[in-house]
Amino acid sequence: MAIQTGLLRFARNDGEVMTYDFRIAAADTPTLYRDLASALEGLISGEPDPVANMANAAALIFETLSDVNWVGFYRNIDGELVLGPFQGRPACIRMTFDQGVCGAAAKTRQVQRVEDVHKFSGHIACDSASNSEIVVPLIRDGELLGVLDIDSPKFGRFTEEDEAGVVKLGEILSRVL
Ligand code: SME
Repeated sequence: MAIQTGLLRFARNDGEVMTYDFRIAAADTPTLYRDLASALEGLISGEPDPVANMANAAALIFETLSDVNWVGFYRNIDGELVLGPFQGRPACIRMTFDQGVCGAAAKTRQVQRVEDVHKFSGHIACDSASNSEIVVPLIRDGELLGVLDIDSPKFGRFTEEDEAGVVKLGEILSRVL
């Protein structure tokens, strides 16, 4: 199984350049997400800027997970979901809470794990290659900050183990957005 290793170098807001040595093993799904969560913690530690943290998080998740074609954020701006940092094809910019899988996650504040997006009433096809999707609401102190959206060209790509892993990533991100 693939193991990704590497060094991430980034300048913290205090000017210090940090080097984070990461190792992401794909031995099994829980291990993959445990390592991914640890890499994410390292990437965002000490950085208070939400755009920087969302941008790096999207890139890290997109690089690490197999069979994904879009990873990114929609932010809750005055009750509307507005596109944030992402990796993948250009996407729709604004959605109401009544639109799409993202809207359903925002409205219900529940994870939406959709095995076949074509069967989801109201699904918004930003990329025609997408066939399954998981959307996790990002909540801090009772406030909906936005959602983390991951799309796959593979039907049923996201399992319960993926859901547990992505929820954990969402918890980490909610602290810094
Ligand atoms: N499919 C999403 C829209 C966003 S894109 O997938 C990036 C939805 O139905 O909410």
